[in-house]
Amino acid sequence: MSILAAAALGGITGAAGAQGDTVKIGVILPMTGPSASTGKQIDAAIKLWIAQNGNKAGGKRVEVIVKDDAGVADTTRRLAQELVVNDKVVALAGFGLTPLALATAPIATQSKTPMVVMAAATSSITEASPFITRTSFTLPQVTLGLADWAAKNKIKKVVSLVTDYGPGNDAEKYFAERFTLDGGSVLEKLRTPLRGADFAPVLQKVRDLSPDALFVFLPSGQGATFMKQFAERGLDKAGIKLIATGDVTDDDQLNDMGDVALGIVTSHHYSASHDSPANKKFVAAFEAANKFRPNFMAVAGYDGMRLIYTGLNGSKGQGGEALMNAMKGQIFESPRGPVLIDAQTREIVQDIYTRKVERVNGQLYNVEFDVQKAVKDPAKNRK
Ligand code: PHB
Repeated sequence: MSILAAAALGGITGAAGAQGDTVKIGVILPMTGPSASTGKQIDAAIKLWIAQNGNKAGGKRVEVIVKDDAGVADTTRRLAQELVVNDKVVALAGFGLTPLALATAPIATQSKTPMVVMAAATSSITEASPFITRTSFTLPQVTLGLADWAAKNKIKKVVSLVTDYGPGNDAEKYFAERFTLDGGSVLEKLRTPLRGADFAPVLQKVRDLSPDALFVFLPSGQGATFMKQFAERGLDKAGIKLIATGDVTDDDQLNDMGDVALGIVTSHHYSASHDSPANKKFVAAFEAANKFRPNFMAVAGYDGMRLIYTGLNGSKGQGGEALMNAMKGQIFESPRGPVLIDAQTREIVQDIYTRKVERVNGQLYNVEFDVQKAVKDPAKNRK
């Protein structure tokens, strides 16, 4: 951070962003680059929230400013500084990948600007600043239930494959710990790089190791390429079961994956086919506005806007600590199911579903068949 920018940040205190009759929300998303689908989904969800709920909260007019960081952390940090110093935003939101959220955390702390993480899912993110809260999920939160499911379903030997950064580390670690406790064994832990992953070499290794199942975490946007290579290598026919976090069978790409995706068991907090009146309403409105299906990123963007609007109502349009405090402890019915923002950890508590890819009315969906209620981030509970 430049000295000038740091000085400017230091000068901004609790009343940040609450200027006159307008409050600004600064949203930073990867609208281009490899994570563009995350930006597209969250941007569409924010627009839907505003179309349905208007542009007033806490007695102020709300203005949303969306910026594209292309998934590059230096850009995220610069945009966050500009939004805080020049635009005097009342809150920052978005954050498509873990490094982008972590790069912004010191700015949130120094300027006391609440930061709502709508995508990134490494457990430690909310510990990087007392001004961070989250409407997405954490990898430990969605991984333990899948390890239990695998152990109960005749899977004894697993190879894990994750993207080599924060959320992948979390998924690999929490899966292995729980699956081993359950009596299973992890034969090998494989990793692929975040950028430019080629899955062919690791898939060959998996074939040679011949486990009962392959456990996979990849960030949203990589699932379709992975599934194509999985099928090309014939792993679907080699009797190796695929189990994954729901990031791999992402609703944004799932329907185009074809029959190779059928039967994949995943664990996650949101499926577009979640059977509740609130979700049916959300999906219908989202699809009518966008001509594509909402995924878990969209639902976190939508809920993040609810969190900020309700927070602004509670703080009477003030930013800083007043807004942060008003966001803590919120309970509401999300399209994903009931959720709570834990006031202590600022982390989302939510139901986690076990699902299987099935064809429903000609379309591929993650069909939920089991649920763990009100799951907290396990990484925080054991400290
Ligand atoms: C992350 O970078 O934290 C991340 C991104 C996409 C996902 C999950 C985690 O689907």
